[in-house]
Amino acid sequence: MQYGYFHDEKREYVITNPKTPVKWINYIGTLVFGGFVDHTGGALICAQDPALNRITKYIAQMPASDFRGETLYLRTLSPIPSPHQGEGRRGEGDYRLFSPYLVPTLDPYDLYECHVGLGYTRIVSEFYGIRTEATIFVPLDERRVIRDIKITNISDAPVQVDAIPVVEYTHPDSLKQLTNADWVPQTMVSKIVKEASGCKILIQYPFMLRDIRVNYFTSNAPVSSFDSDRKKFLGDNEYGTWARPLGLLGHPEIRRAERGASLSHEPETLRREAAQGDRTELNNSEALRGDNIAALMHHLGVLEPSETKRIITQLGQEENVEKALPRIQYFRDEHNVERAFEELAQFWDRYLGKLQVETPDEAMNCMLNAHNPRQCHTTKNWSRYLSLYQLGYGARGIGFRDSSQDVMGVLAQMPQEAKTLIKQLLCVQKRNGSAMHQFNPLTLAASEGDSLEREDLPHYYSDDHLWIILAVCAYLKETGDTALLDQVIPYYEKDKNKQPLESDTVLDHLQRAVEFTRQDVGAHGLPLLGFADWNDTVNLRKGAESLFTANLYGKSLLEMIDLARHLSDTASAEKYAAYYAEMKEHVNQCAWDGEWYIRYFDWDGTLLGSHTNDKGQIYINGQSWPVISGFAEPSRARQALDSLRARLNTRNGIKISAPGFNGFDPKCGGITTYPPGAKENGGIFLHTNPWVMIAEALLGNGDRAFEYYRQINPAVKNNCIDEYECEPYVYAQNILGDEHPQFGLARNSWLSGTASWTYQAGTQYILGIRPTFNGLMIDPCIPRVWDGFRAKREWRGAMYHITVENPNHICKGVKSVQVDGQAIEGNIIPILNGGMHQVYVVMGA
Ligand code: GLC
Repeated sequence: MQYGYFHDEKREYVITNPKTPVKWINYIGTLVFGGFVDHTGGALICAQDPALNRITKYIAQMPASDFRGETLYLRTLSPIPSPHQGEGRRGEGDYRLFSPYLVPTLDPYDLYECHVGLGYTRIVSEFYGIRTEATIFVPLDERRVIRDIKITNISDAPVQVDAIPVVEYTHPDSLKQLTNADWVPQTMVSKIVKEASGCKILIQYPFMLRDIRVNYFTSNAPVSSFDSDRKKFLGDNEYGTWARPLGLLGHPEIRRAERGASLSHEPETLRREAAQGDRTELNNSEALRGDNIAALMHHLGVLEPSETKRIITQLGQEENVEKALPRIQYFRDEHNVERAFEELAQFWDRYLGKLQVETPDEAMNCMLNAHNPRQCHTTKNWSRYLSLYQLGYGARGIGFRDSSQDVMGVLAQMPQEAKTLIKQLLCVQKRNGSAMHQFNPLTLAASEGDSLEREDLPHYYSDDHLWIILAVCAYLKETGDTALLDQVIPYYEKDKNKQPLESDTVLDHLQRAVEFTRQDVGAHGLPLLGFADWNDTVNLRKGAESLFTANLYGKSLLEMIDLARHLSDTASAEKYAAYYAEMKEHVNQCAWDGEWYIRYFDWDGTLLGSHTNDKGQIYINGQSWPVISGFAEPSRARQALDSLRARLNTRNGIKISAPGFNGFDPKCGGITTYPPGAKENGGIFLHTNPWVMIAEALLGNGDRAFEYYRQINPAVKNNCIDEYECEPYVYAQNILGDEHPQFGLARNSWLSGTASWTYQAGTQYILGIRPTFNGLMIDPCIPRVWDGFRAKREWRGAMYHITVENPNHICKGVKSVQVDGQAIEGNIIPILNGGMHQVYVVMGA
């Protein structure tokens, strides 16, 4: 079953059935201000940090039908007099209340479309003869969410319409909101600011931030009443519900009484509410404590058939309301909102314009031209910090290894932002060269992550610091900005006054990263595992060694050698080549299991990832990474990847390992907390799949590289969503493996290293367009059936229009390259100073 379709021209995915198996979301804004909107209008918004400055209360675990963070109610009243009402009198009896976002009222709809766009979501719906189009976005560099809402009467009779947008706030300390029901509610305050124009601004803050920063919610139309106390809005001590808020409908008992029935009971609250008369207006509650909301009543008047009314709401944050006012006024003007929306579109045109492809595979084009680089933008912003699955509470922040890899997915598009993030990451590297595992983006305070949960195990991850070498070298190859290497950056350790104990150049940071791993080896001369390597969940005792880290170290050394040569530093190049040879020997001497590479040595020398094991006999990363590092000689490389294919490949992707552990075993750690087939325990952990594509491409097998690419392409899953469940427009982190009864079910969409690595695998290894220090390499490794492909790539200020032809139907090999009609030697296009260039590549032996 399909729930929607790709609209490639608009670079949208359009959801047409709102009852998707799980919420499908879209990101708006950036980490500075933004968050995500789900396809039924719910929104999780924060500024700079979801843990410490969260704005809306969005509880991801609640049922899909629940109110989450924000919604819009429409209330219609037919002006035709009814027997119960005097003419023109608003009486709750004849109100019809519904949400054009479906949730939380769940009315039957005639049309529902959620357009998932680049940095915006547009919900278009038709209920009861009312068409609503709500465009939700954060304008570039603004600290506000705009909802531009157009309401049209598509029936053939006039109808009176009220529009009531509602937001629910959280305490900015998002975890406290959930864990402290004493302090939090005593501090939450909302106030109304009334303007001469009739517009109103509801401001909200926890008491201690009153003079520092406030949230606000406002619109561009007169507001006749409001509520900011949830209790008042829902009514009847919150026995009114989000689906039927009594603030908008009146109490059923009162309605009955008005029609002459006697009240079955008459509690004080009812009498008070009754005294307020009909439900034309909200209660004008300024919350002095408790659960704070912002509900604004707009009477839009009578809409004649075909007539449209428009309101624009803003949810933002500023130091105080005076400071916020000028920009609030600016965005009340619909032309300025339209301009901001166009600027957003231009941003994405520029962003995506850096690299566009035309291959014979539609689903690949769809992902590489829009959704995949877009997801890379999201992971660059949010690391693993805020999604439907990564909830952004508490200490978890920007992951060192995660963001180092994310950076590599945005280099062509936003090198400056990538550099800023690289520098932040280097600030949490330690003097010994290892790195803190994660840091909070607002405070830059770092921590050792989950390793702190186990006192008996080491408190560092053996791979973290090595990823930054890959990120920095990729940045240098993209930009040529070697000046970065000389920038001085502090190491993480601080003195009593919070001043860094030591600072040194970026190059020094990279060198220390290498030296840390070189020194930190175990009995077989392989890197010690630390708390874990890339696979967070294999937590072995102190003394265990990691083959993954050995290979990542090998790949890092290849990069350091390349860099040293580029800097004409022969001595360093030789030194690193010697380190490389040393580790290569250790790996090949002790880690070949006969048909594949093992994955770990436990502290006592026991093998993991060997045919001698009962469970976890073979691991994916154990095979792809010796190819990426170049440690595996050709015959072992081929055999390792063939064993992987035979034992781990499925139609939904390659599993991380097999067979899965079946029962909790503290000696192996987190991996055994999952049933077989789930996540790191034999699931299809997608982040690892592009590494196999890259390994196959390095070995020249374009058919397999592409087959592995296609079998995890979410766009291809659009036809089997009932199995897959997650958004078809972004990569998920994991799919349940074939040992699990729900094989094929995806989870943890959006924030995954799969985005960056599949983008790299697709563009740099399958299409083979890869920056080097000396020029842009074109080294495709494609399915042999392809006749070729075209691509447009901006690199170092020049635009390359690349045509690749594959007349002999081979997977890999470049016979000739012409640049602007001139043949060049080899397949590296020299650095050209600006301009537009035609590159013509013919594949062949
Ligand atoms: C999660 C973590 C990542 C880790 C992976 C495998 O995606 O964010 O850091 O490498 O799981 O355990």
